[in-house]
Amino acid sequence: MKLRTNARFSTICIHAGQTPDPSTGAIITPIYQTSTYVQDALGVHKGYEYARTQNPTRSALEGNLAAMEHGAAAFAFASGMAATGAVMTLLKSGDHVVVTDNTYGGTYRLFENVLRKYQLDFTYADTSQLGDIERAIRPTTKLLFLETPTNPVLRLTDLAGACTIAHGHGIPVVVDNTFASPYVQRPIDFGADLVIHSTTKFLNGHSDGVGGAVIAVRDDHIEWLRFVQNTEGAIIGPMDAWLVLRGTKTLPIRMERHNANALVIAEYLASHPKVKRVHYPGLPSHPQHDLARRQMTGFGGLLSFEMGSFERARTLLNSVELMALAESLGGVETLIGHPATMTHASVPPERRQQIGITDDMIRISVGIEDVDDLKEDLEQALARV
Ligand SMILES: Cc1ncc(COP(=O)(O)O)c(C=O)c1O
Repeated sequence: MKLRTNARFSTICIHAGQTPDPSTGAIITPIYQTSTYVQDALGVHKGYEYARTQNPTRSALEGNLAAMEHGAAAFAFASGMAATGAVMTLLKSGDHVVVTDNTYGGTYRLFENVLRKYQLDFTYADTSQLGDIERAIRPTTKLLFLETPTNPVLRLTDLAGACTIAHGHGIPVVVDNTFASPYVQRPIDFGADLVIHSTTKFLNGHSDGVGGAVIAVRDDHIEWLRFVQNTEGAIIGPMDAWLVLRGTKTLPIRMERHNANALVIAEYLASHPKVKRVHYPGLPSHPQHDLARRQMTGFGGLLSFEMGSFERARTLLNSVELMALAESLGGVETLIGHPATMTHASVPPERRQQIGITDDMIRISVGIEDVDDLKEDLEQALARV
């Protein structure tokens, strides 16, 4: 089994980072559930000394993710937030970061409630407007932190345009690519320097593990992240690494179905008289539909919509039967949620209002069930509104 340098995406997903286990030929990289490795003699070992520093299952996952995102190296962490935390250690006190204004609520909480204590400063800009990025940059700006599409209003940032602006000021760009997954979008191809994932979502894909990853291209970033991963120790465990590796093998076919189902559901909701407004990049009515076509392969599995009032949204959420009322996203099963009181509860109400997370908004992570069953579930729930 040898992966050619010109292997295509689906082949990379299945094989990159993995070779048959040298001791048995096992085709699947084993779960190396060990904390240490026996050395042959003093100073003589097989490249593995202690499992915080190196673990073969984690290394396989890191090789896999680096190849999928077209990066030079990847580092796997205990969660998406641990991955974001590791990236932020590239900065020092006094540094300023420009951040997509409706970034994930947990990211906002990390920046505002933890990192401000260390004299980091943040400006939240509408990065869908390239002019707003330019205006937010200061002499002390050391990072542009992007999320596209955003959660849950599905606003997009022009990655190539944003990278050109940031690089013009010597500022590296990091993209949280969790929402899209590398099947739908590969930010490094557009100039990004770092990519973050919550592997908890589409990469794992089966709602059975928590993890995160950073993919890097620059040698200085790679050297620092390797150091920080070992020094802070927020590593992904071997079992969780193995589950993500199993998930990435089917990422392309899962994403094709996520994309197809989400488009059908978005069109269905957009045509329903009880639904006020639908946010989905795949709809021609989305203000950045053309950008989505240029930048993304498919439009992703997430959509949100407004029901006109909180009461109506609550009735719908309490009436679905097949869709599960739950936080998180990116699993094979459809999840439905209320961003204002669930995923974005840590964002102050006035900020939520500012970035368009209204109290009547519902988000769906569209799974890969038969789409007719999903439509029927919405149909019966909407009938009760
Ligand atoms: C876009 C995005 N980034 C990061 C995270 C954090 O990931 P984790 O929950 O694995 O820490 C999430 C979690 O929902 C997310 O949606």
